[in-house]
Amino acid sequence: MSGVGKTVCVTGASGYIASWLVNLLLQRGYTVKASVRDPSDPKKTQHLLALEGAKERLHLTKANLLEEGCFDSLVDGCEGVFHTASPFYHDVKDPQVELIDPALKGTLNVLGSCAKNPSVKRVVLTSSVAAVAFNGRPRAPDVVVDESWFSDPEFCKQNKLWYVLSKTLAEDAAWKFTKEKGIDMVTINPAMVVGPLLQPTLNTSAAAILNVINGSQTFPNSTFGWVNVKDVANAHIQAFEIPSANGRYCLVESVAHYSEVVKILQELFPAFQLPEKCADDKPFTPTYQVSKERTKSLGIEFIPLKQSIKETVESLMEKKLFTRSARDLTPMVHTVYLLVTVFLLVPCACE
Ligand SMILES: NC(=O)c1ccc[n+]([C@@H]2O[C@H](COP(=O)([O-])OP(=O)(O)OC[C@H]3O[C@@H](n4cnc5c(N)ncnc54)[C@H](OP(=O)(O)O)[C@@H]3O)[C@@H](O)[C@H]2O)c1
Repeated sequence: MSGVGKTVCVTGASGYIASWLVNLLLQRGYTVKASVRDPSDPKKTQHLLALEGAKERLHLTKANLLEEGCFDSLVDGCEGVFHTASPFYHDVKDPQVELIDPALKGTLNVLGSCAKNPSVKRVVLTSSVAAVAFNGRPRAPDVVVDESWFSDPEFCKQNKLWYVLSKTLAEDAAWKFTKEKGIDMVTINPAMVVGPLLQPTLNTSAAAILNVINGSQTFPNSTFGWVNVKDVANAHIQAFEIPSANGRYCLVESVAHYSEVVKILQELFPAFQLPEKCADDKPFTPTYQVSKERTKSLGIEFIPLKQSIKETVESLMEKKLFTRSARDLTPMVHTVYLLVTVFLLVPCACE
């Protein structure tokens, strides 16, 4: 209960990662001032208000990243600020308005409130591997990506990687601003985050698993780093609590191509109908490594990818975001299912 008597702030609390962060902070005894874009929407607040300790120590406030100064009162009196809010989705019409402005201006808006507030001892910014690994440097199994890598905005623009660009510009601006204002900041740079959902709605990274179990005929020809949401939330808190924590921390348990993810799903859920083919005929995008050296100093012992995938699927089922019917079963299981149905029905019909 290292947080007893301490007040911290979390932005974007209704989101996937931030919900877990609020949960762990409350468990550790912190008082949490949290921002939500629309507190009148129960889908954004109910799961938070139901957390243990929420009644006594969670305070929800309405705030939009693009409204200047609206984080002032939220940050007031907080020792730590976890800035997690930032749009994460790919289907965008206007990248500047939908992704880049809220990520970049929103980060500077939150940091501006921190700069005005002497109570803030440290800011933990939820950045991303998106701000680390997209610079055109070749990827291969022997290449080790680490915290010294920075994504290149020009490379992102050329390849229309708008979400990646939004995170790259936001982190870069955050480092410049905090250096200028003398704010102590640490960034957490996770890869694709999976694991159980606390919120009732589907988020982009859990959809990365849902999309391959949802009857798709093919899996994407993509390779990602993967990490469990509980490790990500925990790393944020460790980065705040450990006085010597500094700089950036890449969070990746393992790097795996989708073919590997499908293999794990087959082992875990043999009755699922899973894609057998890759979406294109090109060679699989190569794997690479991501250094765990710095993250070790935060005391993170990563949850293995297999367990994270299991937890994601079970959670999607529990939240009814993934429902299976007889049509989803593999042909062999389907036959067994039909035989059992006939076997059970025939005696009934004879009675
Ligand atoms: N999930 C991943 O794989 C992953 C990996 C690396 C880094 N990250 C980073 O982690 C953070 C959280 O991502 P997530 O996966 O938890 O996504 P999420 O569930 O979509 O959460 C995003 C949060 O940002 C809030 N937000 C977006 N635009 C806003 C605005 N204009 N004003 C106020 N709040 C706004 C959302 O509020 P609403 O609920 O009202 O929309 C939501 O609470 C983001 O910074 C993301 O870039 C995520």
